[in-house]
Amino acid sequence: MLRILLLYLCALAAAENGSQGWLRYAPVPCDKACQDALPSSIVTLDRNETSPVYVAGQELQQGIQRIFNKTVPINYDNCAAPSSIIVGTLRDYNCSTQDIPELGEDGFVLNTTGDTVQLLGHNQRGALYAAFEYLSMLAQGNLSQVAYASDAHAPIRQVNEWDNMDGSIERGYAGPSIFFANGTVVDDLTRAREYARLLASIKINGIVVNNVNANATLLEPRNLDGLRRIADVFRPYGVQIGVSLNFASPRDFGGLDTFDPLDPSVVSWWENVTDQIYQRVPDLAGYLVKASSEGQPGPLTYNRTLAEGANVLARALQPHGGILMFRAFVYDNNLNESKWKADRANAAVDYFKPLDGEFEENVIVQIKYGPIDFQVREPASPLFANLNRTNVAIELQVTQEYLGQQCHLVYLPPLWKTVLNFDLRVDRKASPVRDAISGKTFNRPLGGWTAVVNVGTNSTWLGSHLAMSNLYAYGRLAWDPMADSEDILQDWIRLTFGSDNQVLDKITEMSMASWPAYENYTGNLGEQTLTDIIYTHYGPNPASQDNNGWGQWTRADAQGIGMDRTVGNGTGYAGQYPEEVAQLYEDIDTTPDDLVLWFHHVNYTHRLHSGKTVIQHFYDAHYSGAETAHSFVDMWESLRDKIDQERYDDVLTRLVYQAGHSIVWRDAIANFYHNLSDIPDETQRVGNHPWRIEAESMALSGYKPYAVYPFETASNATAIITTSNSTTGTASTTLSIPSGAYNLAINYYDLYGGSSLWTVYRNDDQIGQWTGDTKLGHIPSIYLDGHSATRVTFRDVEFRSGDVLRIVGEPDGTEPAPLDYVALLPGGVVD
Ligand SMILES: *[C@@H]1O[C@H](CO)[C@@H](O)[C@H](O)[C@H]1NC(C)=O
Ligand SMILES: *[C@@H]1O[C@H](CO)[C@@H](O)[C@H](O)[C@H]1NC(C)=O
Ligand SMILES: *[C@@H]1O[C@H](CO)[C@@H](O)[C@H](O)[C@H]1NC(C)=O
Ligand SMILES: *[C@@H]1O[C@H](CO)[C@@H](O)[C@H](O)[C@H]1NC(C)=O
Ligand SMILES: *[C@@H]1O[C@H](CO)[C@@H](O)[C@H](O)[C@H]1NC(C)=O
Ligand SMILES: *[C@@H]1O[C@H](CO)[C@@H](O)[C@H](O)[C@H]1NC(C)=O
Ligand SMILES: *[C@@H]1O[C@H](CO)[C@@H](O)[C@H](O)[C@H]1NC(C)=O
Ligand SMILES: *[C@@H]1O[C@H](CO)[C@@H](O)[C@H](O)[C@H]1NC(C)=O
Ligand SMILES: *[C@@H]1O[C@H](CO)[C@@H](O)[C@H](O)[C@H]1NC(C)=O
Ligand SMILES: *[C@@H]1O[C@H](CO)[C@@H](O)[C@H](O)[C@H]1NC(C)=O
Ligand SMILES: *[C@@H]1O[C@H](CO)[C@@H](O)[C@H](O)[C@H]1NC(C)=O
Ligand SMILES: *[C@@H]1O[C@H](CO)[C@@H](O)[C@H](O)[C@H]1NC(C)=O
Repeated sequence: MLRILLLYLCALAAAENGSQGWLRYAPVPCDKACQDALPSSIVTLDRNETSPVYVAGQELQQGIQRIFNKTVPINYDNCAAPSSIIVGTLRDYNCSTQDIPELGEDGFVLNTTGDTVQLLGHNQRGALYAAFEYLSMLAQGNLSQVAYASDAHAPIRQVNEWDNMDGSIERGYAGPSIFFANGTVVDDLTRAREYARLLASIKINGIVVNNVNANATLLEPRNLDGLRRIADVFRPYGVQIGVSLNFASPRDFGGLDTFDPLDPSVVSWWENVTDQIYQRVPDLAGYLVKASSEGQPGPLTYNRTLAEGANVLARALQPHGGILMFRAFVYDNNLNESKWKADRANAAVDYFKPLDGEFEENVIVQIKYGPIDFQVREPASPLFANLNRTNVAIELQVTQEYLGQQCHLVYLPPLWKTVLNFDLRVDRKASPVRDAISGKTFNRPLGGWTAVVNVGTNSTWLGSHLAMSNLYAYGRLAWDPMADSEDILQDWIRLTFGSDNQVLDKITEMSMASWPAYENYTGNLGEQTLTDIIYTHYGPNPASQDNNGWGQWTRADAQGIGMDRTVGNGTGYAGQYPEEVAQLYEDIDTTPDDLVLWFHHVNYTHRLHSGKTVIQHFYDAHYSGAETAHSFVDMWESLRDKIDQERYDDVLTRLVYQAGHSIVWRDAIANFYHNLSDIPDETQRVGNHPWRIEAESMALSGYKPYAVYPFETASNATAIITTSNSTTGTASTTLSIPSGAYNLAINYYDLYGGSSLWTVYRNDDQIGQWTGDTKLGHIPSIYLDGHSATRVTFRDVEFRSGDVLRIVGEPDGTEPAPLDYVALLPGGVVD
């Protein structure tokens, strides 16, 4: 492929706040030959200003202006002009007699080989996709000759916003909603329009705008009018809106005395509501429903089947051509762990397989990628292999709910690919999950993709610049799941940060290592993300997995760990897969190490295929993962002169934070299992921290020791807090260390409810100062725990033996300036 060789005179561009995402169209240097090769006009085959083809023409004009500083005029019916770009539908294109390949719904041809650039869609949307794809080439400095047709992997390519009517976002880490505030649709939909543009550029064609935990007040007439406005904003970009419904609306909002889906008054109530919505949004994609799930109302309330519940809505949608997305996330959240064979992972197949064939043709069962809930690693949901007469879609999560909440860099496509490429061996034939969702495996007419996305009003959209690679890659994979994760990433990097090779290499290296590192320091061997599942899903708390009804159990005790999901002696879950896969997982010898604790309960001394014991693997992986996270900081810092200050600083802050929090994770998990198993780390790292000074062992004034719960989220289980909310605390110690330069790391707790101020001194010299201001966007905690545990590092500080290290903490609000420990780390030491 030919790329223009670019001269980077000065990469230090103006500060950027991320609001353009990957559509920033930064200038690409273009010499005379390059300028001559640029098109001289744009022919747009539709004058209708709200049509995607018209929008495509505008996008091309603005994009070329910004990338090449060239103004290209737009014409509307002049297809003969040489050296023009033609954008339109195949139907409207009658300028050439060439053979055009057959295209599917939303498909397109992108052809730059002739004397015109052809951007031709099967429909309007396809033409817009071709225009964005061509612009993506130009923005990456790629003016090569290409000619190809491209088709969608599946017709359904949606995003789900979990936005509430009050403007909050469930699992939102990037500010409030761009759609709702104060119980209604916001007046200013500028950001919604920009989001539509981003979605269209990655070929997403549907958006469900409100939370699956839905509020029936969405159906108020003023809100239906608001939905009309949202749809009007998305329509020119070829994105259809959908809405989440609360299944109890006929009773709670409509005033009926029931929401029984078989009650005739309920049936006609839904028909009427559906008519009301379609009057305002004639191209509504349809509905999304979370019913009889996690406390949400549903058909099970009336002893009706899930299919009976789904069908009442599906039938209401049929006259309008709408589809019903019905979530498969139905399970009992009051399971009894004392029952060895109880297993939440079995629930989806148990509920849905008996209903196969009973759903209306316009129902799509929306299935999370794994059987539990967006964990760091799960086996592919067996439900994908068990519904052969029902449409299905996969549900991914761009929102990093259990995966660092956008405060940890975790590039997700390699995780998604473990599921998409997993061969279910239906009928002993190749049947990867991606074929089940496209409808290929079972010859289904409908299917596809959805992803939970938590964009908010933050200028970066997701609260983190680097997290945007996940949104970008989601769209790219939904169009073509065979695309390579690293290739997609590199397109995103060039579009977002430019084409400098070092920038490309470093961000690629960091991103590709990020999920394996996160898995290493949070929960490996198929043990799920060992986060706090009953509080914020963010920091470590392995004990929270067990002894409750949620069924995300590890069954860890003093001897062993893991869920026995075999048919032979366990929950039988392995048997939900087709025979070949069932056998693979039934036998511990053929179960891959990375899922061994998902499928088997073993002793900590069990030897893995790698030759290590389970417990030693835990220790090693957590230490490796934290070291990898630390390497991200160095990699990013090597790009200091190549990235604008605003984005450089913002990303650096997050990566430094992540490195510190990876130590919190590492120590919590290693200490927890060390304590439980009483098996030492062969290399003696766990519990042995020669560079640390515990805060509670320092001389304290105005501070007192505090026993932290869970214990493993404090070094030595103990922190210090000020003796009252208005007392300034001082902790000091006289150092006896070899003189030299150290990185001074201080672990503290950043609680919700106050912004304490800490100042650290060497003798009387102030080394630095920081506040606990909870600004990163992850869900805050009101306790000293694994969510609030945070590290600040001052680098290359000279210390001599005999120096006094002193930290002064001023509490604020309910935050008592908590401190855990300090570490004086010689260069290169991570601890
Ligand atoms: C203009 O395009 C929009 C979006 O495709 C469509 O809904 C509308 O009917 C079109 N208007 C006319 C006059 O064709
Ligand atoms: C863009 O082009 C115009 C003239 O066509 C020129 O005056 C201007 O300096 C150019 N801008 C940049 C940033 O190169
Ligand atoms: C691309 O355009 C050229 C010139 O018009 C034509 O010969 C060729 O068939 C086109 N290729 C495709 C894939 O449409
Ligand atoms: C919500 O309502 C309050 C009180 O009426 C008002 O102050 C605020 O500006 C509103 N917020 C938005 C986003 O409309
Ligand atoms: C639904 O929205 C209304 C109006 O914004 C609010 O008063 C009510 O608390 C919400 N209900 C739920 C369950 O969130
Ligand atoms: C249909 O819904 C509208 C709007 O909520 C309401 O005004 C009307 O009375 C309903 N019609 C019937 C037949 O229920
Ligand atoms: C549902 O079935 C159970 C068990 O058969 C019964 O106890 C219950 O009353 C039924 N509920 C309704 C709403 O019919
Ligand atoms: C569909 O699944 C059922 C039950 O698992 C099986 O009996 C049937 O043969 C399958 N049909 C097809 C066409 O695969
Ligand atoms: C088999 O299951 C029982 C519980 O029913 C459990 O105590 C035992 O450890 C399991 N045996 C093996 C070999 O996993
Ligand atoms: C697991 O450990 C227990 C207790 O030490 C022991 O009795 C048992 O034999 C061990 N099981 C295996 C498979 O090694
Ligand atoms: C994860 O941990 C394993 C085991 O220690 C190690 O081999 C691997 O390099 C680690 N990977 C990353 C990215 O940290
Ligand atoms: C974006 O959100 C982060 C926290 O998530 C915050 O620090 C930053 O100020 C926000 N920026 C804007 C422009 O809203």
